[in-house]
Amino acid sequence: MRASVVGRDCSWLPFALFLVLAAGLWLEISFEHDSAARPTAPRCQPVPRRSIEPVFTNLTVEYNTAPAFTYDVIEGADVEGHDLANVRSNNVELLKQTCNALTECMGFNSNGWLKSKVSSRTPSGARLFVKLPLAAARQDSAAAHLGAGRAQVERLTHVLQPNINLTSLQEQALRQLRIFTYPVHLGSMPRAPDDYKYGVERRLPQVLASSPYAVQQPEEATHFLIPFQCTAHRYTVADRAGGQNAAEAGLASWIASISAAYPYWNRSAGANHFYVCSHDMGSSAVAQLSRAAQQNLIGLVNTADRRDGFFNVHRDLATAPHIGDGCDTCLQGGTRLSVTREAWAGTPRNRLAFMAGNLQRGPVRPRLRQFFDGDPDFLLVDGTLAAAHYRQALAESEFCLVVRGFRVWTPRLMDAVWSGCIPVIIADGYELPFSSLLHWPSFAVFVPEHDVPRLKDILLAKLSQAPLLRANLLAASQYLTYHSNWVPLDAFDILMLQLAARS
Ligand SMILES: *[C@@H]1O[C@H](CO)[C@@H](O)[C@H](O)[C@H]1NC(C)=O
Ligand SMILES: *[C@@H]1O[C@H](CO)[C@@H](O)[C@H](O)[C@H]1NC(C)=O
Ligand SMILES: *[C@@H]1O[C@H](CO)[C@@H](O)[C@H](O)[C@H]1NC(C)=O
Repeated sequence: MRASVVGRDCSWLPFALFLVLAAGLWLEISFEHDSAARPTAPRCQPVPRRSIEPVFTNLTVEYNTAPAFTYDVIEGADVEGHDLANVRSNNVELLKQTCNALTECMGFNSNGWLKSKVSSRTPSGARLFVKLPLAAARQDSAAAHLGAGRAQVERLTHVLQPNINLTSLQEQALRQLRIFTYPVHLGSMPRAPDDYKYGVERRLPQVLASSPYAVQQPEEATHFLIPFQCTAHRYTVADRAGGQNAAEAGLASWIASISAAYPYWNRSAGANHFYVCSHDMGSSAVAQLSRAAQQNLIGLVNTADRRDGFFNVHRDLATAPHIGDGCDTCLQGGTRLSVTREAWAGTPRNRLAFMAGNLQRGPVRPRLRQFFDGDPDFLLVDGTLAAAHYRQALAESEFCLVVRGFRVWTPRLMDAVWSGCIPVIIADGYELPFSSLLHWPSFAVFVPEHDVPRLKDILLAKLSQAPLLRANLLAASQYLTYHSNWVPLDAFDILMLQLAARS
């Protein structure tokens, strides 16, 4: 793993010493210790950076129908150079699958580097895995679906969209973005339900406060956060329509107070003001605002539905829904759930597709059931599983179905991402989080709703790409995960990069 350090104009700092300390600290705490508390960065301080290269660059991959390889393990050996790609994992199963799929791959070391040559070995603390042809092709259940042995050549795509340079976007955000959060006493703040699905609403203002984008003086601000919580207002009333009305009224009342107390709203008619709404209502929280406010106010929402009259893809931002990674209040069906990357390790993925949830909800899920209930390649659970079983099912499946209910988003998206289960998005019009920056087809599968009857064929055709989709998914997961403090290029930070890039 590499780390680099980028500073703002901090020439008055004892700069060199700090660089060394920050880089050392970063190496200590990156990736595996994502949730470790990190010191808050004051405004003018070097920013430790994750390496942001894509996993693979321009590799041609030839897939074998059945992975006809086995691996010799050589303890205490490595190969100098000849790096083909870095899978950023020490999960041996994942490394084997990825190396199987790459003809150029001759083996890999236990640190996650795939090698194009394994002959010039040097002593090392690592283990070297040397790829060997297997006389009798292993027929695991996934490979068995592939039928006759036709190889397929794929040019790999990047995790990021073409021409996106996150380093330069972040430099821009650090230079330009100044956010003032209106004081909470200005509005009504009912208590939000303790539900992991809506956690972004509470998490985002906290992380913002710990970030270098926060300013205390509103006159310094380029952007303004209205700390309104649509979900909290929604649940002040039992029925859905009443709750929606309460949330709309809550936002309208916030805006009345801030526009009376401060000059910034009136100056911009609400432009450069934003709010977070994780609830299904999404951007429709603005329904009781003036026309101008509806056009200008920016929503950071889970319900990012291009077909929704209130959601505007050029103004609003799709949030990575739910913050559950390692969070100890994550609830699924009333059971404590804490999906972590441990679920990536070990388990062979012998099942084609999995989904658990209310299979009667919305227009698509009942059809899923109609066509695939009882199919041995599918595990469709109508209802929730106990946390341990849920985790296991995520870890054992190649593809996890992320199917719309009434609205396009579902927390299953993140459960799949964190479990290394390739998300299959069946939700027409869903604007995936950060899709102006992340190239989702590199790590997810998209199936139009009307293609549900063909779902199995579509997934079987994708199966040969699964190791690479999964390797990319691991790389992408860092951008989709929230932390409790500011972490460069995590899900919170990517939202801020987008805000800065649009202003
Ligand atoms: C990757 O491929 C593109 C298009 O073929 C080419 O322009 C680019 O230079 C290649 N990059 C590398 C690192 O080989
Ligand atoms: C991305 O931007 C940074 C900072 O502006 C620059 O140093 C780097 O060369 C850029 N990377 C690419 C691949 O253009
Ligand atoms: C903003 O405009 C509203 C409505 O026109 C007005 O009532 C309010 O006093 C204005 N706010 C400020 C700070 O001038």
